[in-house]
Amino acid sequence: MNRRCGVKKLSNVLVTAGPTRERLDSVRFISNFSTGHMGYELAKASLDKGYNVTLISGPTALKRPKGVRFISVEDASQMERAVKANIKRADCLFMASAVCDWRPKWRFNGKMKKTGKNKMTVRLIPNPDILRSVGRTKGDKLIAGFALESSDAVKKAKAKLKDKNLDLIVANSVAKKTPFGPGNTDVTIIDKHGRQERVANASKKKIARKILSSAERIWREGR
Ligand code: CTP
Repeated sequence: MNRRCGVKKLSNVLVTAGPTRERLDSVRFISNFSTGHMGYELAKASLDKGYNVTLISGPTALKRPKGVRFISVEDASQMERAVKANIKRADCLFMASAVCDWRPKWRFNGKMKKTGKNKMTVRLIPNPDILRSVGRTKGDKLIAGFALESSDAVKKAKAKLKDKNLDLIVANSVAKKTPFGPGNTDVTIIDKHGRQERVANASKKKIARKILSSAERIWREGR
């Protein structure tokens, strides 16, 4: 039944996690410090609630959660294809991956040799903004993103929420301590109705549960 009648239950959750790697050649890449912990905790919290979970993951050292449909990707283009192929059956997307904004314009086949070179220039071109394009065509799906900022995190996250047409955004700051890795961190969860919740010095498991509760509330209220 149509969820606009207020009867469809949230049941299919899509999560992206981890970094992307953008290859320079067969042995080198550009990436970031994402470890995937936040996305994997979101997948686990969703499983605990009985949802069907698809997890699209960039390269991480984490164990795949038992019970998820797992899709492994390496770079932003692969992640974009995987999101586009799986968003149709999802009610809700948590875009927790740290997608590289840029990729090398050329990818060398094999290993680039240093012989004869004392300078190396890498030309980068922009990757697609996956979340922005999903937000543009989201229909009645619930779309949640993250914002990683080094200053004015909440203000900038609110701007991203509007700009990318999201229902929910989680503001992370790199200003004082790293949000990467398994440790506790601080976030602010902001929804499109202007509600804002600060979760300080909390485990990613706890943060994941709070994010999921905020999403469930928006879902219940209808949008
Ligand atoms: N994102 C995405 N595709 C990209 C870059 C980011 O889907 N090419 C998503 C991230 O997964 C995150 C959100 O967009 O959920 C915000 O990412 P963030 O890195 O904070 O910001 P950007 O949109 O990349 O903008 P900027 O780097 O200028 O802050």
